[in-house]
Amino acid sequence: MPESAFSDTLVSRLARARRIAVLTGAGISAESGIPTFRDPGGLWQQFKPEELANIRAFLRNPVLVQGWYTHRRSIAAETQPNPGHYALAKLEAIVPGFTLITQNVDNLHLRAGSRNVVELHGNITHNYCIDCQKEATEEEMHAIAVGEPARCGDCSGYIRPGVVWFGEMLPEEAVDEAYEAARDAEVFLSIGTSAVVYPAAGIPLLAKEHGAYVAEINTERSAIADEVDEVILGPSGDVLPRLIEAVRALKR
Ligand code: OAD
Repeated sequence: MPESAFSDTLVSRLARARRIAVLTGAGISAESGIPTFRDPGGLWQQFKPEELANIRAFLRNPVLVQGWYTHRRSIAAETQPNPGHYALAKLEAIVPGFTLITQNVDNLHLRAGSRNVVELHGNITHNYCIDCQKEATEEEMHAIAVGEPARCGDCSGYIRPGVVWFGEMLPEEAVDEAYEAARDAEVFLSIGTSAVVYPAAGIPLLAKEHGAYVAEINTERSAIADEVDEVILGPSGDVLPRLIEAVRALKR
């Protein structure tokens, strides 16, 4: 079987499954032009997380951190979902129970039409006040463009991005939903994640423990590749459309 081929077992299990869960990481958005974190040229090679992605760095220099997230937000807004994102939205449409768990904050799954999306690390399009938690308005965010810190119009607290930073808890409801989907899934796909950041990285293995057939789709083997049932080596924007088409063909 060529490396980027998938097995008949995976296709028939996906076609038969009533509950499917998927975990995505930065790799699924790579073909949209969004840099990953750990690949060569990735975000954590250009910027130090300890200087940007935690509450202490933010309080020390809100203008720098708000500016960095504004930059990432504009990159995400200018890019488009790729065939991998669209294929997952198509899969959701033909499966009774489908949960898409993502570590990505780029909003591309929702833009591609996926509906049941669990955002483990938040969403970069959201911004809120660190003091009163009010969602920020466009007007409040405008300060960043002129080099001022964005502050809440109600209580003047700093406005932060709605993403999870190092040292912070993941949103409890999202984690619960992700674990439940993993425990219930008959098939689980782990796509474009290096699987080194927990608790997300443990979710495919939880699915496996509970009986799911687990397949990984990645351009290289991830930290959990040895523990899954099948590894498909290839870009998700190429593999997923072919895989989902094969599933649709079998269902017809
Ligand atoms: P990483 O940058 O750690 O891993 C990206 C993965 O995508 C790697 O395993 C690549 O081999 C793979 N990849 C690259 N291009 C691909 C493609 N076209 N198709 C398929 N796979 C491809 O990103 P994540 O695993 O998402 O957390 O990182 C997890 C978390 O670490 C992020 O959510 C972020 C970061 O710190 C927070 O910011 C809280």
